[in-house]
Amino acid sequence: IDDLVAEGVSGKRVFVRADLNVPLDGQTITDDGRIRAAVPTIATLAQNGARVVVASHLGRPKGAPDPQFSLAPVAERLGELLGRPVAFATDTVGDSAKATVASLGEGEVTLLENLRFNAGETSKDDTERGGFADELAGLADSYVGDGFGAVHRKHASVYDLPARLPHAAGYLIATEVGVLKKLTEDVKRPYAVVLGGAKVSDKLGVIDHLMTKAERILIGGGMVYTFLKAEGYEVGGSMLQEDQLDTVRGYLDRAKELGVEFVLPVDVVAAARFPDLKTKAPSDPTTVPAHEIPAGLMGLDIGPESRKLYAAKLADTATIFWNGPMGVFEHPDYAEGTRAVAQGLLDSSAFTVVGGGDSAAAVRQLGFDENEFGHISTGGGASLEYLEGKTLPGLAALED
Ligand code: 3PG
Repeated sequence: IDDLVAEGVSGKRVFVRADLNVPLDGQTITDDGRIRAAVPTIATLAQNGARVVVASHLGRPKGAPDPQFSLAPVAERLGELLGRPVAFATDTVGDSAKATVASLGEGEVTLLENLRFNAGETSKDDTERGGFADELAGLADSYVGDGFGAVHRKHASVYDLPARLPHAAGYLIATEVGVLKKLTEDVKRPYAVVLGGAKVSDKLGVIDHLMTKAERILIGGGMVYTFLKAEGYEVGGSMLQEDQLDTVRGYLDRAKELGVEFVLPVDVVAAARFPDLKTKAPSDPTTVPAHEIPAGLMGLDIGPESRKLYAAKLADTATIFWNGPMGVFEHPDYAEGTRAVAQGLLDSSAFTVVGGGDSAAAVRQLGFDENEFGHISTGGGASLEYLEGKTLPGLAALED
């Protein structure tokens, strides 16, 4: 982006592919971290006189307009953060987008409606995707890729559009890649990875890859129960992915051969029912040994002894990567495991990276100062796929 600005962007239409996929409660943005992260690139372009066309996806609409996934509330928040109005186009490549872009003056900013309202954005068909990218290219003179959270998607605005315009990487992508490089090249050891989240199937690739890179892998979240069951314990009514048991057993065996330590909870906070996350009504939690979860109870967080254990396992490390909450942190009865891991990161002297929308939101919702962590990534799937060593379409397109 610095090169692009140095060449001169004044009066030019610059397309910025950001990731403004923020959590919404109705029309209310519940965490604006991704919007704030997009500001430096957009502000720099606007300050240098560019006519800035910002675009993003939000949620997973089905290739057609769907009001619940409108970016309108995001346009308003972006305007507040930029300190300048953001003209909202009510479509992506239609009359509204064309007219709004045509009316932009130097240093003015527009946000297009959700890119995924057009089926071409996510199509697996190269021609359909390319057709949408052609239409988007008609709106701009150059392209800045800055939506780190979406670089693992082979989508029209991420992968096909940069091939059609002079392109550059924005500040957010540059920062994110710089940090993740520290977790893949010359990693300071001991290196611990904390993985949480609901499904083990979402983390298979990263577990497989990181087993040869990290000294320690701490497991939390819904994944725990598939690991416990694979070790032969009863997990009561806890979340379980039966079809992953053999894979997990394979990991546990391989970890022994490699000398990698898998850390599992010794106790869990459990309840008879999943808690109400809207009312947050008290849910009668009880702590039980992780190896004897009674039938009729489901594990929903790691327990107090496990919190101490996990903090101790993080204390003497030099690098920590954390992705995924330890429990149902959205309810106060099951937030302590996630809080303890966040605190464990801060109490260690390690270089700490928090990756993923959920963990980043958890850190903020639990009241931690995000600036105290080494880095909080805006990308969940993207950071995991980067750490797996995969080629990410949105980065490859910018390097080309
Ligand atoms: C994310 O939230 O991880 C990114 O915005 C990508 O969204 P997606 O998983 O719907 O492609």
